[in-house]
Amino acid sequence: MNYKIKGTYDLLPEDSIKWEYVQNKLKEIFKKYNYKEIRTPIMEYSEVFHREGEFSDMVQKETYNFVDKGNRNITLRPEATAGIMRSVIETKNYAQNDILKYFYIGPNYRYERPQKGRFREFYQFGVEVIGLKSPYVDAEVIMLASDIITEFGLDGVLIKLNSLGDNQSRLKYQKVLKEYFESHKEGLCNDCQTRLDNNPLRILDCKIDGPKEVVKNAPKSIDYLTDSSKVHFETVLKVLDENKINYEIDHNLVRGIDYYSETVFEIHANIKDFGNANTLGGGGAYDNLSTDLGGPELTGIGFSFGMERFVEALEVSGAMPNLEYALDAYIITFDEEYNTFASKVLKDLRDHKVIAEMDYDNKSVKSKMKKAIKANPKYLIFIGEDEVKNNLVSVKDTNTQEQKPMKVKELIKLLGGK
Ligand code: HAM
Repeated sequence: MNYKIKGTYDLLPEDSIKWEYVQNKLKEIFKKYNYKEIRTPIMEYSEVFHREGEFSDMVQKETYNFVDKGNRNITLRPEATAGIMRSVIETKNYAQNDILKYFYIGPNYRYERPQKGRFREFYQFGVEVIGLKSPYVDAEVIMLASDIITEFGLDGVLIKLNSLGDNQSRLKYQKVLKEYFESHKEGLCNDCQTRLDNNPLRILDCKIDGPKEVVKNAPKSIDYLTDSSKVHFETVLKVLDENKINYEIDHNLVRGIDYYSETVFEIHANIKDFGNANTLGGGGAYDNLSTDLGGPELTGIGFSFGMERFVEALEVSGAMPNLEYALDAYIITFDEEYNTFASKVLKDLRDHKVIAEMDYDNKSVKSKMKKAIKANPKYLIFIGEDEVKNNLVSVKDTNTQEQKPMKVKELIKLLGGK
């Protein structure tokens, strides 16, 4: 017996219909904002994610890495942003003299401890806007994230926001933070003691130390912003205020990846019993990702939501509509000898975009009827000796129970076929 890999799942039709609903609705929302879809590879050369200066647990501890038969180091993407930036640099699409507004929906891989809303293979949907540093772009991206929550009918959308500032602000802040934590070193976990040298910002994000008083009382990035970063962040807040976006500043929000600069945020909704999985998505700006990948100076901002979490949030909060697979016609023959005739009727229906099905199982009409009723079609189509002889079909409306013979052409018309 083979079992699925820990942290993975099978998406069966009763759930994939929900994903289809979410994806279709998302695409409508992205369209309103004029974002276009991008699909980048699931596997990339390892250096796309394992960049110098990237000390996040996600990259250091959780990536799936392997050496391929050509001796190349490959990583299954743990997130979408770095691969998208790699693509923008490689295609030189940044030279189009316009900002690039992308959306994406796709799988990612992280070797994490599986738990509620956390998988090893999981889907994200999100956006990246690359090519213009502007507080208005930041605000648009945040408003889009908030719009997604409300458009899907989820309650209590809350954006948690912070600013890490530009490079100069961050260097200053890191120095102050390092000095602060040096003097509280004994209270930190082993991992954080190492983080102190590599990247003290990561301490604010630590799952063990994060809730401790020493971390809660740490210096705030917002107090070390340069004038231009301060104005940038204040303008973002002003636009959010004007548009009545519900946000809250969270001084310890640094996000779990090291490429962030300036505005960072997380998207929360009020979902019963969701605990930590209440963070439906997160994102922020990244001024250095392009140069870290060997590209030109190029800024970007984006966010990603976890698809599994999002679908579950819709379900538990009653925001997932009742979805059913539509079936227009279900053909039942009275004997196998009528199946060839029936197969032509079936093809004709499908050629006219009618959703049609036929039972090929050579069982009794009674057992075929049982299955047909379960399939819940709009019409049952019976085919026997008379129908074949007269080139007709007998059509039963499953709603009114009315039954009458008709030409296939009439049936197509009845079903609104095209
Ligand atoms: P992230 O915070 O690592 O950011 O992930 C974003 C979202 O993906 C999380 O809020 C969560 O909903 C979902 N997620 C993360 N890990 C898992 C998992 N193991 N299982 C299920 N869902 C998960 C990023 O990935 C950034 N690329 C976001 C971004 C885009 N920043 C700028 N642009």
